[in-house]
Amino acid sequence: MSAQGKTVLITGGNAGIGLETGVGLAKLGARVLVTSRDAAKGAVAVEDIKVRSGSEAVEAVTLDLASFASIRACASDVLQLAPRLDVLVLNAGQVNAKRTETEEGFETTFGVNHLGHFLLTTLLLDRMRQSAPSRVVVVSSHAHKSARRGLDFSDLQAEHRYRAFDAYGKSKLANIYFANELARRLERTDVTANSLHPGFVTSRFGKDGDLGLMGKLGMPIARPFAISQEAGALTPIWLSSSSDVDGVTGLYFYKRAAAETSKAAHDDEAARRLWAVSEELVGS
Ligand SMILES: NC(=O)c1ccc[n+]([C@@H]2O[C@H](COP(=O)([O-])OP(=O)(O)OC[C@H]3O[C@@H](n4cnc5c(N)ncnc54)[C@H](OP(=O)(O)O)[C@@H]3O)[C@@H](O)[C@H]2O)c1
Repeated sequence: MSAQGKTVLITGGNAGIGLETGVGLAKLGARVLVTSRDAAKGAVAVEDIKVRSGSEAVEAVTLDLASFASIRACASDVLQLAPRLDVLVLNAGQVNAKRTETEEGFETTFGVNHLGHFLLTTLLLDRMRQSAPSRVVVVSSHAHKSARRGLDFSDLQAEHRYRAFDAYGKSKLANIYFANELARRLERTDVTANSLHPGFVTSRFGKDGDLGLMGKLGMPIARPFAISQEAGALTPIWLSSSSDVDGVTGLYFYKRAAAETSKAAHDDEAARRLWAVSEELVGS
């Protein structure tokens, strides 16, 4: 694995799997840009990555995926900072016990985990095409398998029925649809797009009550079986930097190997439909 001379942008790079992915890629020689909602947290993460990687080529960019204005400002900052963008790691994610909405009125889990990343990627895609060979790496989850019946296009914003895990599973299925459809659209461009499951990781994810009662009761029981954040970053680091996956696109990975997705995730028509709907939503 080598990331020498590469510029990498990692969303949600101030904590958890994103932070460890930043450390790993900085150690491999990449210039690392991490996004953070909070500038102070971003500054702390930059120092942490610099110290642990021994690299000085680390910067923070502010991004709140629940705000189109913030996403546009972030993309503009990145385009100014980075004359080339070789790897885009779409890692930031949320799970929310109660239904809330983004600045534009989209259900937050869908809005942040999928739609915000959709908009950010479209704004950066020309730069990635110019930097080809380049890679989009989408951090999904095996939780996508809980969305057995796929996405409910008649209620994408979960206005009629909201359950935290249901919304989360669907957003992670949307991540896979997005990566697959992006890969299809980028065929023959030398820009690849793949998704992954990092494993069950002892990050802060769901610790602050985001998962509601189920999280409070279930997470302490499940946590001893979780892997470290460093281990959770291994697949994102490998997909971002390994020559093993040169030119490989449209696949889902776990433990640095191609893995099976759910039957619903194979629905290419749903992936195309989600792309079309997402275009409408970010344009509206
Ligand atoms: N942990 C697991 O077991 C597990 C399993 C499968 C998949 N995943 C996926 O792995 C990814 C990373 O999760 P993690 O476990 O590392 O969780 P984490 O420690 O909670 O980190 C999540 C990151 O996303 C950022 N974020 C949250 N909402 C955001 C928003 N609106 N705009 C921009 N950034 C935002 C957070 O920023 P703040 O610090 O500001 O909150 C943080 O940097 C997620 O996509 C998750 O779905 C995790």
